[in-house]
Amino acid sequence: MRKLPDVILKDEDGRDFPLTNLLGNYWVVYLYPKAGTQGCTLEAVEFNELFEEFGGFIVAVSPDNPEKIASFKKKHGLKFKLLSDTKKELASGLSAVKDGKLVRSTFIVDPWGRIRKEWYDVKVLGHAKRVLDDFKKIVEEDLRVNPLILERRAFRGLRPDPIEDEKLLRLVEAAHLAPSCSNNQPWRFLVVRSKEGLEKLHATLSGGNYWAKHAPAVILVYTKDELDCQLDDNRNYALFDTGIAVGFLLIQATQMGLVAHPIAGYDPIRLKELFGIDGNVITLIAVGKWGKFDHLSEKHLEAERRPRLRRDLSQIVKMV
Ligand SMILES: Cc1cc2nc3c(=O)[nH]c(=O)nc-3n(C[C@H](O)[C@H](O)[C@H](O)COP(=O)(O)O)c2cc1C
Repeated sequence: MRKLPDVILKDEDGRDFPLTNLLGNYWVVYLYPKAGTQGCTLEAVEFNELFEEFGGFIVAVSPDNPEKIASFKKKHGLKFKLLSDTKKELASGLSAVKDGKLVRSTFIVDPWGRIRKEWYDVKVLGHAKRVLDDFKKIVEEDLRVNPLILERRAFRGLRPDPIEDEKLLRLVEAAHLAPSCSNNQPWRFLVVRSKEGLEKLHATLSGGNYWAKHAPAVILVYTKDELDCQLDDNRNYALFDTGIAVGFLLIQATQMGLVAHPIAGYDPIRLKELFGIDGNVITLIAVGKWGKFDHLSEKHLEAERRPRLRRDLSQIVKMV
């Protein structure tokens, strides 16, 4: 996602104002061509009227010098910060310069400096209210649980259709971006998708995991103590780190419309022998497309349809 350029502007008092000052909060950054003109005044007045509704997080930028923006601010009692971008550095970085002139534009920037919404060639009348509506919507949407987390399910109704290696590797790529203690990256993956490999693996599955035999790929996840960050007090983070990585993999699969279902029901010793694994197998992950149910037991068919079950939050969290 495009980010707000990391430039240093001047404020109304001629002091440096690095745009990193905006990080950590949602902001509306609007660019206007010239302080004091009719359109720019109307725009400023409209934003000013909604200042409180924006929580005060408005900043207005123009190529005017600091003295000019200071008098513009005073004359109209503007409550928000005005910044001077005489070299049009910010404007250029935001592709808001055309034929040497600044293009009237507005940006909603989030706490990580990501540009979430943009308007170019803004028509002033009623614009501030439209921006406010989107601003509120973005802040509200970001407060939700991530939709991919909400959607992810450990489904069992897998189609046998093969999954391209590129997609399987993309899952591992996402897992490999997980954080880990000392950045040790203790996770290891063996992607089993050949007929012979899968047949070998099927022999290690517990009876209840019959459904996983329909998966076109199974990712074997393992680690070993030597790969851990080895803290002095013997805490072992290899399992923890690998668990985070698997979490990332499951979310990536959900985005790609694939089912990725972790499995603990297998014979770990046999698996190790069969595949020559040097480490501890933590989980298998059955990967496939969803949508074939005729091999499922009544119980599993029902599980496929019912909403997910979770204890009440009050049972698993306390705030002190
Ligand atoms: C480490 C781990 C091991 C699991 N082992 C199995 C398994 O052997 N067989 C199975 O059918 N499901 C297995 N599951 C899936 C869980 O049953 C499932 O995640 C849980 O019921 C919650 O459902 P949801 O993932 O759809 O929210 C496992 C999940 C995890 C994280």
